[in-house]
Amino acid sequence: HNHIDHATADKVHAAIARGETHAHLPDYEALQAYRKGGGYDTLEALRGGSQTVDAVQDTMLEAGLRGLGGAGFPSGRKWSFVRAAEGPRYLAVNGDEGEPGTFKDRYYLERTPHLFLEGMLIAAWAVEAEKCFIYMRDEYPAVLDILRQEIAALEEAGLVEKGYIDLRRGAGAYICGEESAMIESIEGKRGIPRHRPPYVAQVGIFDRPTLVHNVETLKWVARILREGPEILNGVEKNGRKGMRSFSISGRVKNPGVHLLPAGSTILDLIEAAGGMLDGHVFKAYQPGGPSAGLLPASLNDVPMDFDTLQPHGTFIGSAAVVILSDRDSARDAALNMLRFFEDESCGQCTPCRAGCEKAVKLMQADRWDTALLEELSQTMVDASICGLGQAAPNPIRLTIKHFPEEI
Ligand code: NAI
Ligand code: SF4
Repeated sequence: HNHIDHATADKVHAAIARGETHAHLPDYEALQAYRKGGGYDTLEALRGGSQTVDAVQDTMLEAGLRGLGGAGFPSGRKWSFVRAAEGPRYLAVNGDEGEPGTFKDRYYLERTPHLFLEGMLIAAWAVEAEKCFIYMRDEYPAVLDILRQEIAALEEAGLVEKGYIDLRRGAGAYICGEESAMIESIEGKRGIPRHRPPYVAQVGIFDRPTLVHNVETLKWVARILREGPEILNGVEKNGRKGMRSFSISGRVKNPGVHLLPAGSTILDLIEAAGGMLDGHVFKAYQPGGPSAGLLPASLNDVPMDFDTLQPHGTFIGSAAVVILSDRDSARDAALNMLRFFEDESCGQCTPCRAGCEKAVKLMQADRWDTALLEELSQTMVDASICGLGQAAPNPIRLTIKHFPEEI
C-alpha cells in the first residue's frame, strides 16, 4: 500500500510561506526515466497506426474503465460521443480535485506525472483533439511546477507541439470542478455550471465538442494500453471488478491513498489504513466526499464501488473516505458539510443558494425539524441546476436516517 507523504506537503507549504516562487518538488519520475521504462512507446505506436481508435476504445470498455472524478461514466463511451460530434474538438483535464477528503490525483501527479500525460495524449489522439487544457488546482503548487517542467520537456523532446498543452490554474472555487463551470472558467468567465443537455461532449470549450476526463482516469488509459485490460478487469472481489484509489483520512493510523479492489468494504479500507487509532471505536464513515453524506459503521459489508452504495442513498464518488469514531458527532459532521456547500454554492439558482443557507440554520437548532428539512431537501434535489445543490441534502437525509439520537 501507498500512503501520502506528509513531510513533502509540509516542505511545500514552508517554501510558500518563505515566499519562494518554486515550491520544493517531491521526487518524481521525470521524462527521461519514464521513457527508459517504455514510456510514450504506446503513444508513438498509436500515432504510427499500430491500432485503430475503435480498437483502443474497445480495450477501455473491456477493462471497465469508468470516470474516476466520481461519476463513473464509462470512459470508452465518452470517447464515442465526442468522436461522433463534428470537429474541431478539444480535450480538457479536470484536475481541480476540490472534493474534501480527495487527494488521489495530487498523489499520482507528484509521483508519476507522465503516466497521466501519456494517457491524456492517447485520449487526445483518439478524439483528434486540437488542443489539451489542463485545469489544475492552484492549491497544488508542487504539481503545477512539475507539470510546467514536464510539459516543457515533452515539447523539447518533440512529443507535442509547443502550446498544444495549455496548463490553466484554478482559483480555489469548488464549483469550478463541475465540468461545465470549469469550461466557463477556461473560457475566461466566472465559473458557473451550464444547463445540460447539451453535454460538453457536444458543446464544450468555445462551443466545441470537448472530451473531459479526470487526472486518474487518464493515468489508467496509459496503464491499460501498456499492461492490458486485465489490470482492471482481472481483479475481482465481492462480485465487483476493478481497482479503486481510495483517499482515506480520519481516525485511522495510516491515512493516505490506498489502491485496493473496487469490491472492498469499509472494513477492508480501515484495515489497509492501519486500523483505527488507538482508543477510537469506528462509528461512521463518509464514503465519497461530503456530497455522499455519512453512513453508520453497521453498514460495513457493502462493496465501496460505483452503483453498490445507491440502495443506501449514497455513492462512492471520488472515493474520498473519512472515518469517524465514537469521539465524533455525526450531527456536527453533517452541519460542517452543509456549511461547506453554503460557502461553495455558486449562487446561480435559488434552491441551492437559499437552500444551503436555510439548511445550515435548521441544522443549528437544538432539535432538527426533520419534516421541514426533508421538504427542503426534496426541493433542492428536484430543482437545483447542478450536482452541488442536488447532492447537498445527502448529509441531511443520511443523518436523519442513521443518527436520529443525535438530532
Ligand atoms: P454525471 O454523471 O452527470 O456526468 C459524468 C460525465 O459523463 C460527465 O463528463 C458528463 O458530461 C458525461 N455524460 C453523462 N451523460 C452523458 C450523455 N448522455 N452524453 C454525453 N456525456 C454524458 O456526473 P457529474 O456531475 O459530472 O459528476 C458528479 C460526480 O463528481 C459526483 O459523483 C461527485 O462525487 C464527483 N465530484 C468529484 C470531485 C473531485 O474533487 N474529484 C468534486 C466534486 C464532485
Ligand atoms: Fe450553482 Fe448550486 Fe445552482 Fe449548482 S446547484 S448551479 S452550485 S447555485
